[in-house]
Amino acid sequence: MKKLNIPFHKPFITDDEIKEVVDTIKSGWWTTGPKAQQFEMEFNSYIGSKRSVVVNSWTAAAHLSLEAIGIKEGDEVIVPSITFTASAEIVCYFKAIPVIVDVDPVTLNISPSEIEKAVTKKTRAIIPVHYGGMPCDMDEIMEIAKKSSANGGLKVIEDAAHALPAYYKDKMIGRISDVTCFSFYVTKTLATGEGGMICTDDEEIADRCKVMRLHGISHDPWNRYTDEGSWYYEVISAGYKYNFTDIQAALGIAQLKKLDAMLEMRKAIAAKYDEAFKSCGLLEIPTRLNDRESAYHLYPIRLNLEKLKINRSQFINEIKNAGIGSSVHFIPLYRHPFYKNNFNPEIKNYPVSENEYPRLVSLPIFPGMTDEQIDYLSDRVLSILKSSEK
Ligand SMILES: Cc1ncc(COP(=O)(O)O)c(C=O)c1O
Repeated sequence: MKKLNIPFHKPFITDDEIKEVVDTIKSGWWTTGPKAQQFEMEFNSYIGSKRSVVVNSWTAAAHLSLEAIGIKEGDEVIVPSITFTASAEIVCYFKAIPVIVDVDPVTLNISPSEIEKAVTKKTRAIIPVHYGGMPCDMDEIMEIAKKSSANGGLKVIEDAAHALPAYYKDKMIGRISDVTCFSFYVTKTLATGEGGMICTDDEEIADRCKVMRLHGISHDPWNRYTDEGSWYYEVISAGYKYNFTDIQAALGIAQLKKLDAMLEMRKAIAAKYDEAFKSCGLLEIPTRLNDRESAYHLYPIRLNLEKLKINRSQFINEIKNAGIGSSVHFIPLYRHPFYKNNFNPEIKNYPVSENEYPRLVSLPIFPGMTDEQIDYLSDRVLSILKSSEK
């Protein structure tokens, strides 16, 4: 078999994106303007949310969401162990405490029973992460939040960085909890290089995020003092510079049109991998659940290390030598020096993460992968594993 080079990810770009970006550059309006507004509106109707607020990353989106719900120093926010640091670092911006809980062994999503054990009088929010695009147990999570509302309000802010588009019991992710934050980072299912969106039905949260995304500037005075003209604004808070540019929005507008088609492409790749790998006892494929539909953002396999002579790093090196890119999602938060040193997490509280993390490997799954690439990758993975069997 001829050696191929398959990157871990490649954005799916066609002439549509290029045309939109060139038009925007030629228009002379590069920063936040009509295209950012158009993208925000089109995204809002795609999700079916009451309000959407576009910003320059998921991290900015979630930071503003926590600010809008009033997170304060000493508050506790529950996050899963297997996620990217952004899901928890935003809590630290407020000197609040990220309470890291273990995940479910099937989905690697935050475990509702672990959330329940972790809720205290100081808990103000839960940040469920839809790992790889597979929705969390949202009914159970919303129920826990409701039961705990005697706390003075426990909000659910979904980390949907991987979950565009994804469905839980026929409800689209973005329509379920208090706030949902999406990412448009280059590897994500809708890519604008960097970018993020806040979706909520809560007008107050949306209004606050809108003001804080650009220096705490309120345009309300325009309505009050019409004689001042459109140049007048008031700064009502120390806000941030989190705005999304029209050049990024140009990419977003073009990508949104093909979001469903790109999902179908990733789904077809996953089905081919499932078929190729399902009867190999040396790895496990991602589990599909009947009551939810993944966005297929990642294809994480789990190696059956007890049957192999090689470990995960050796496997990654071997597929790399065969020209195949891969990644690991994620090093559990409690293993990183920052979380270890500041929050003293105890390893014994994370039996699932400790068991699953050492055997996780994410394989390439991006629209535009050819059948030749998928077949080559499946063949190489299987033959490397078979030749490494104990
Ligand atoms: C689960 C998860 N949450 C949050 C983020 C942060 O997204 P952004 O880079 O848009 O801030 C990422 C990015 O990789 C992620 O994987």
